[in-house]
Amino acid sequence: MSSTPTYNATLQERIHVAPGLAIFRILPDESPIPFTPGQFTILGLMRSSPRLPEAEEEEPPTRPGDRLIRRPYSISSASQQQEYLEFYISLVNSGELTPRLFMLQPGDRIFLGTKAAGLFTLEQVDPACNILMVATGTGLAPYMSMLRTHALSHDQRQITILQGARHSWDLGYRAELAALARQNNRFRYLPVVSRSDEEPPWGGLTGRLTPWLNNPSLPQLCGFPLEPDLTHVFLCGHPEMVTDASQILTDKGYTTGTRSAPGSLHLEKYW
Ligand SMILES: Cc1cc2nc3c(=O)[nH]c(=O)nc-3n(C[C@H](O)[C@H](O)[C@H](O)COP(=O)(O)OP(=O)(O)OC[C@H]3O[C@@H](n4cnc5c(N)ncnc54)[C@H](O)[C@@H]3O)c2cc1C
Ligand SMILES: NC(=O)c1ccc[n+]([C@@H]2O[C@H](COP(=O)([O-])OP(=O)(O)OC[C@H]3O[C@@H](n4cnc5c(N)ncnc54)[C@H](OP(=O)(O)O)[C@@H]3O)[C@@H](O)[C@H]2O)c1
Repeated sequence: MSSTPTYNATLQERIHVAPGLAIFRILPDESPIPFTPGQFTILGLMRSSPRLPEAEEEEPPTRPGDRLIRRPYSISSASQQQEYLEFYISLVNSGELTPRLFMLQPGDRIFLGTKAAGLFTLEQVDPACNILMVATGTGLAPYMSMLRTHALSHDQRQITILQGARHSWDLGYRAELAALARQNNRFRYLPVVSRSDEEPPWGGLTGRLTPWLNNPSLPQLCGFPLEPDLTHVFLCGHPEMVTDASQILTDKGYTTGTRSAPGSLHLEKYW
């Protein structure tokens, strides 16, 4: 790919997770941008950059000339990581940017935002509170950054990840999270597979993850109660999951609060 002046970073590595799912490691030309775990930044490619041939066909451009396609992505690397910024991205076949992102090879150039933004962080969580981190698909990304940076550094805090994916092979970061759960008795990893009938027997939780939030066995699986004074809940990913899960948690007394006085429910919708 020819270099474009807008581009300010290089794809260092693309790690295949499953068809349509990959981890991208991107090296900025300048020093890495500071960020708080849970925040996002922008990735961008020019519209003229090649698109996956198997992606859905795109409408012709409405305006003449080239332009930068920009989308926000949660950072999954630790904030102390200086070598690259990592992102966990799923391919949207009808999308504008991702069919171009999935064409990139190591060494290719890309636009990387120069700032990180977002309030989906642990800054306002009392260190004594437990945390339930709920994600569909790539909604796991901000939690990877939190766990890799500092989330488990408070001795009293227990953390559980409830991650929904279609198949066991779509569970990105599964090995890292399972290893962390083996090493740290204050962390539990609960993957939920929604299409378990399409794969060899899966011994874990099944179905969509939303009903699990109402399941009486969830506190025991997490190792802590689902009560707003004791446990913060983070929801990230599919907008319908975030809406439906918020309703279940609101019925249990959870609130999102305000910017200056956040409640114990934290939301990030990906579209
Ligand atoms: C704060 C924030 C952080 C984000 N972080 C991540 C991340 O870490 N990883 C990640 O993969 N995505 C993330 N996203 C989503 C990302 O910004 C893009 O929306 C997504 O990659 C699709 O971009 P696209 O240009 O290919 O598709 P678009 O052309 O933007 O989308 C086409 C249509 O597809 C639908 N759509 C968008 N995203 C998805 C999806 N993931 N699955 C199914 N349908 C979808 C929408 O209806 C949309 O109108 C984040 C979004 C936000 C707001
Ligand atoms: N193997 C592949 O080809 C592959 C793999 C992953 C992603 N992708 C592509 O990547 C895009 C997005 O993938 P993704 O990983 O972000 O998400 P996804 O694979 O679409 O979904 C992740 C998980 O969220 C569940 N889910 C979907 N809607 C929900 C809702 N309303 N409430 C609760 N749970 C819900 C899914 O269950 P259901 O199974 O019931 O939908 C699945 O368990 C899609 O466009 C997809 O085509 C492709």
